[in-house]
Amino acid sequence: MSFPITRMRRMRTNETTRRMVRENHLRVDDLIMPLFVCPGDGVKNEISSMPGNYQMSIDVLVETGKEILDLGIPAVILFGIPDQKDARGTEAYHDHGIIQRAIAALKSQVPDLYVITDVCLCEYTDHGHCGVIVGEDVKNDETVDLLVQESLSHVRAGADMVAPSDMMDGRVGAIREGLDAEGFDQIPIMAYAAKYCSAFYGPFREAAESAPQFGDRRSYQMDPANGDEALREVDLDLDEGADLVMVKPALSYLDIIYRVKSTFGVPVAAYNVSGEFAMVKAAAQNGWVDEARVRDELLLSMKRAGADLILTYFAMDVARVIK
Ligand code: PBG
Repeated sequence: MSFPITRMRRMRTNETTRRMVRENHLRVDDLIMPLFVCPGDGVKNEISSMPGNYQMSIDVLVETGKEILDLGIPAVILFGIPDQKDARGTEAYHDHGIIQRAIAALKSQVPDLYVITDVCLCEYTDHGHCGVIVGEDVKNDETVDLLVQESLSHVRAGADMVAPSDMMDGRVGAIREGLDAEGFDQIPIMAYAAKYCSAFYGPFREAAESAPQFGDRRSYQMDPANGDEALREVDLDLDEGADLVMVKPALSYLDIIYRVKSTFGVPVAAYNVSGEFAMVKAAAQNGWVDEARVRDELLLSMKRAGADLILTYFAMDVARVIK
């Protein structure tokens, strides 16, 4: 039945009718807040390209964790900035590394906050690559061995979930096997399954001090031109035992989120990355866009595309509004 019988504007008349037919919602349950932890005491260094986000020492992390839980956000994802970096990223899998101590502190002082850890070597290697380097090449299988050790050390420290972000082949299966062998068969893996080699990670590399010292990450992260390949990546990670799969970045890859969700029907996480956050903040600071409206519109686009979970530096801001 078409016009004038059908009038699409009828249900747009006022906020009540609009609310009644609204298809997607931002909920605190969907949010995961990324946090950066560094050595020291009382440290809270604002990251210049990510206003409102900080490199924080463990004591500040714990206070922030309490605030996050009070806001109703279920989970955080932790990134570590170690004192010492070396060629093999030793502190990444050291039992008393920065991240292991941070996990233990959060789980003892804010036990109800769900702690996810990013599993990767780039924050811990002096060359800034996500694995072991031989010549100019990141060695896949040797790196996977270290990622298994890293995952195990996080889980032994109390991590609730691990999220490998390195893009080495076969790492999800190896981590699953490693965890199961130590009796951690109930610890889920969120795979950064379709992670693109993106310029949108710029501010993160300032935050995590993890920019590669030579070359780039094109030999392991995905080519932004590819879509079908993302489905193969997701398929492989699911086969290897991934419980959730992530698409990263989010905004330029909404088609990938949509395809992954409709093809596999599994829980999908979207990573609203640092560059996406920084662009909104910068434009808002210039008075060029309305930050809250642009933010909500972007996050809703991820939900509409099919994301179940959103990792976003806006998590606390959004939760404050919802509350
Ligand atoms: C580690 C990692 C990165 C991000 C998350 N985990 C950086 C990278 O791959 O260079 C980026 C997150 C963001 O930009 O917000 N490998």
